Amino acid sequence: MTKTIFPKDFLWGGATAANQLEGGYLEGGRGPSIDDALPGGKQRMAVVSSPDFDWTIDPDKYVYPNHSGIDFYHHYQEDIAMFAEMGFKVYRFSISWSRIFPQGDETEPNEAGLVFYDQVIDECLRHNIQPLITLHHYEMPLYLAKHYGGWKNKQLIEFFQRFTATVINRYGDRVKLFLTFNEINSAAHLPVLSQGLVHKTGADDPKNMFQAWHNQFVASAQAVKIAHEFDPAIKVGNMIIYSTSYAYNSDPVNQIANLEYNQDFNFYCADVQVRGEYPAYTDRYMASKGVKRSDLDITDEELALIKKYHVDFISFSYYMSTTTEVTGVSHETAEGNLLGGTKNPYLESSEWGWQIDPAGLRIALNELYGRYRVPLFIVENGLGAKDQVEADGRIFDDYRINYLKSHIQAIANALEDGVPVMGYTPWGCIDLVSASTGEMSKRYGFIYVDQDDQGHGTLARSKKKSFNWYQRVIATNGAQL
Ligand code: BG6
Repeated sequence: MTKTIFPKDFLWGGATAANQLEGGYLEGGRGPSIDDALPGGKQRMAVVSSPDFDWTIDPDKYVYPNHSGIDFYHHYQEDIAMFAEMGFKVYRFSISWSRIFPQGDETEPNEAGLVFYDQVIDECLRHNIQPLITLHHYEMPLYLAKHYGGWKNKQLIEFFQRFTATVINRYGDRVKLFLTFNEINSAAHLPVLSQGLVHKTGADDPKNMFQAWHNQFVASAQAVKIAHEFDPAIKVGNMIIYSTSYAYNSDPVNQIANLEYNQDFNFYCADVQVRGEYPAYTDRYMASKGVKRSDLDITDEELALIKKYHVDFISFSYYMSTTTEVTGVSHETAEGNLLGGTKNPYLESSEWGWQIDPAGLRIALNELYGRYRVPLFIVENGLGAKDQVEADGRIFDDYRINYLKSHIQAIANALEDGVPVMGYTPWGCIDLVSASTGEMSKRYGFIYVDQDDQGHGTLARSKKKSFNWYQRVIATNGAQL
């Protein structure tokens, strides 16, 4: 076997989120979450961004793929056994807040919901897979978005604290890795999923976005406090989208635009969650959106809490890079999970227009470690693609293997640069519902799930070619890609 640069305790695994795979959306006493109001299909984000969207679930008008997901709720044993067969050391999944607190503002949790995650965790441990739990992955109880206006409302801090304490007290004996808010910085472009804000509740007013972020920073600090007090061995990370950004050219105006893109998008939330204080450019960033810090409700006690209970490590998603240029000089634009930026002529794109850039991952790892000096965990990466099932049932997803291989190579390069990387959990290790388009046909998995965009199919699981490839990567600790 060739020599490996990956540390022997490197956490290879995969990542999913409750709302995109569990299904069973009202089973076991669960309440609906905001994702249950998102229709399937490419129009999904346009529908929820429209002025009259009010979280109504209308099955006569739309298909709601999150309601059934891939029915992990009833298939979790089979799925975790397949993860174990690939050799996973870690499995990242999220806890659906509305399974534990169906409405969100109750004082007592729903025992049936807690039992479900007991079973998932125990099943992982039985297979020697370490759970990595995201506390808030693009969902909250629908009731909190409808009746409290989402994260702009400070009452959510208390509700989330109760949820977090319940989760950590229940599972903290068995789970030692937690993440607070998935892609917390995504609100800069998409406040609906991470902050529960829509047009009718003020999504278009940037003041609400900054207030919601502040409330989440406080809630994140409280989660760190609760976890460390329960067991100092528990490590809590934040979670951001990182999109390595290049200036379009050496024109200083584009270099400055790129500097500001990095500060405002890539670093703003991490600066607060990792360094424990608002960064120097906060007022410049807020002013660019017409907001003053004094407009926000921020107390000294909250700032002290944020300072004291910063996160232990940084986790991030990396799918693509961005190219920045000032408005008005615009060339062709790219698509992206949020904002594609200008199209980079040196990069190929996925079928959904996301620009593929493994070198950008090495840059991301170096930039993040250089700035923060804490361990890093890549908790999402992958290629959304349409898979072709052959007549004999096999799936030759070499495009996915090539994508992942080049990104793992980039991690190896960053390890050679001296960056401490804790682990790697490719996104959607089993096919699931896409977050941005609600499609099943946009697949990321090593495991194929027989279900189409309308929810038809047997739900049978099968191994793609990448399944055996990833199994070998893990078995050789990254020596054989
Ligand atoms: C990340 C999210 O932005 O990207 C996931 O954390 C999401 O929830 C993933 O599924 C891929 O995006 P999409 O839209 O292809 O599902």
